[in-house]
Amino acid sequence: MNLVLLGPPGAGKGTQAIRISKHLGIPHISTGDMFRRATAAKTEMGEKASQYMNRGELVPDEIVIGVVNERLQEGDCASGFLLDGFPRTIAQAEALEKALARGNKKLDQVLDIEVGEEELVRRLTGRRTCRSCGKIYHLVFDPPKAPTTCDVCSGDLVQREDDGEETVRNRLRVYQEQTYKLIDYYRKRDLLSVIDGKQEVETVFTDIEELLRV
Ligand code: AP5
Ligand code: MG
Ligand code: ZN
Repeated sequence: MNLVLLGPPGAGKGTQAIRISKHLGIPHISTGDMFRRATAAKTEMGEKASQYMNRGELVPDEIVIGVVNERLQEGDCASGFLLDGFPRTIAQAEALEKALARGNKKLDQVLDIEVGEEELVRRLTGRRTCRSCGKIYHLVFDPPKAPTTCDVCSGDLVQREDDGEETVRNRLRVYQEQTYKLIDYYRKRDLLSVIDGKQEVETVFTDIEELLRV
C-alpha cells in the first residue's frame, strides 16, 4: 500500500505511523525525521533545513521534493510506503503524483488525522522524544517512568527545538495556510479518509485499521 498521513502538527502522525508501518510491513518515511537526522549529522541539507524548521516554517519545496524522490527509489519502498508529513503543499502533492506515475505507481489512500488547535498545543509542548530510539512520549498523556530517561532503551528524552509555544503557534498557522488545502485536493481524488484524532492512541489506531482499504 502507498499511503500518506496528513494532519496538523501534533495530531499524532508519528505515533500512529509506527503502528501502521508495523501492521502493514511498509517503511515509515517522515520528512521531519529525515531533516532532523540530517541536522544532527550537520550535512549541508540539514543545516539549511534546520533554519526553516526552528522558525516553524516549511522547508522549500525543491529541497523536500528531491529528498523524498530519492527515498522512494530505495528498495524497501517497492511494496509500499507510509509518508508522514509529506506532501505539505500542492506543489509537493503534484510532484509526488508525477514521481509515482514515472514508476507506474499511485497513492492508494490518504489518512487525515484531525485534532483541534488547543489540544495540539498541549500535545506539542508536552512532547518528549528519545534521542536514541525515537520513541515519542508525552509528559501528561503518555509519561515515561522517569522524566528524562527512555523506558525502552534508557536514552535521553529531549524536547524538540520547534516545540516551544511560540513556534508551535507558527507551525499551526503555516499548516492552515499551506497544508490544509491538501484535504480538499485528496478528497476530490477520492483518496481521503478522515480520522478523529482526539481519542486515545489505541482507539485512533483501531479506527485506522478499520479504514485501511487492504
Ligand atoms: P514534522 O516532524 O513532520 O512535524 P509536524 O508535522 O509538525 O508534526 P509533529 O511531528 O510535530 O506531530 P505528529 O503529528 O507526528 O505528532 P506525534 O505523534 O509526535 O516536521 C517538522 C518540520 O520539518 C516542519 O515544521 C517543517 O519545517 C519541516 N518539514 C517536514 N516535512 C516537510 C515538508 N513536507 N515540506 C516542508 N517542510 C517540511 O504526537 C505529538 C504528541 O502528542 C506526543 O507527545 C504524543 O505522545 C502525543 N499524542 C499522540 N497521539 C495522542 C493521543 N491520541 N492522545 C493524547 N496524546 C497523543
Ligand atoms: Mg511527527
Ligand atoms: Zn529510547
